[in-house]
Amino acid sequence: MTQTLPPPPRFMFVHVNKRCNLRCQHCDFWMLDDKDKPNYLTWEHKRAILAEFAALNPAGAIVICGGESMLDLEDYFAITTACKELGLKSLSVVNGTRIRTAQMADRMILEGPDEVSVSLNSHRAELHDETRGVKGSFKKATGALRLLVEARKRHPERGNRIYAMGLIFDRNYRELDGFYDLVLNDIGADKLKLNFIQPSFGHGGVDRFFADNHDIDPDEIGRQIAACNAKYKLNLSPVWARQVQMYFRSLQASTKTEKGWGDDTGTKEHICNSYERNIMVDHYGMARLCFSPRFPGAQLRSPGDLTRFWNGAEFIRAQMRTCNAYCGISHSVRRQTSTVQPGGETMPDIGFASAHPMFSQAAMRDGWQWMKRAVGVR
Ligand SMILES: C[S@@+](CC[C@H](N)C(=O)[O-])C[C@H]1O[C@@H](n2cnc3c(N)ncnc32)[C@H](O)[C@@H]1O
Ligand code: SF4
Repeated sequence: MTQTLPPPPRFMFVHVNKRCNLRCQHCDFWMLDDKDKPNYLTWEHKRAILAEFAALNPAGAIVICGGESMLDLEDYFAITTACKELGLKSLSVVNGTRIRTAQMADRMILEGPDEVSVSLNSHRAELHDETRGVKGSFKKATGALRLLVEARKRHPERGNRIYAMGLIFDRNYRELDGFYDLVLNDIGADKLKLNFIQPSFGHGGVDRFFADNHDIDPDEIGRQIAACNAKYKLNLSPVWARQVQMYFRSLQASTKTEKGWGDDTGTKEHICNSYERNIMVDHYGMARLCFSPRFPGAQLRSPGDLTRFWNGAEFIRAQMRTCNAYCGISHSVRRQTSTVQPGGETMPDIGFASAHPMFSQAAMRDGWQWMKRAVGVR
């Protein structure tokens, strides 16, 4: 019997590090370190996996993940350079602290990712700095964006995309107009991507930031999005806008947001399609179809493992087709892109998904048990 192969993956997420130089209240990468770097994939192995991905989909894209990936510049640019050699696009989200000079901005444009997003938590410096945990981080993030925009003017032929990735939570969602104004009109970036608050990474089982900052009025966020769409001609998708409202309605229905990722209430609708388009390869070479360890993965050891995993993962996809975890709202995994793209999507809608090694230890345990039962998958 001939086996029907799935369409190739469009994106592969690869990790550079898991440490960070900011102290965001909604994230705890900054509590981690890279002391176990000797256990990470070697560069040779990572390069071979990139090449295997390029063979699977020559038009695919690599998403570079951190921590703050630009803390390890050699590893960062090794990936973007390899992507250029292999004909792959590359994308990354950074906090902006490492793009402080025109020289670095030029390097980003010439050698760096085709699409770079700098994260912003607000158009107001004090709210950004407070929630990012470091005074002055707003100045650095907006400074990075401005330097990148200037550098692109020096090298327009490269066609780089420069975005801001805006975290939207209860304290800024009524201020979308000011946020768009800063990013599009003042800074001159190409887009403000809206990245809605998800569970953080609860310490001691309590996810304080998520519990305290997720309460967004679904009707009001709908109004805000519609108004900005009209004012800034954003071409936003109404389907996406409705899903955003659905996401916040789902959160309102939960009584356990303090549990963060441990809150299994989930979204009312299934909005993810990570399993049809993504491969996430973690620091240690474990490949999955999304960031969550609740689904099986495969350890990439030998040439061909990535292809075998992707082509043999139908039993995992079957599990994932009913997953309504909160991370479905993230750019990296949701089916619906935020903008209407009549010509088809050319670049991915990337952003935060739970790319975190501490993502639900309980799910990790269950995931592993499930995995052990899966033939040929460890
Ligand atoms: C994990 S960070 C890594 C890249 C880089 N350090 C940065 O901050 O841009 C990637 C993106 O995830 C977002 N993020 C982190 N925690 C989040 C959460 N709990 N909910 C939604 N987005 C989150 C960040 O704001 C950032 O835009
Ligand atoms: S969101 Fe980014 S900058 Fe903030 S702590 Fe997490 S990894 Fe660091």
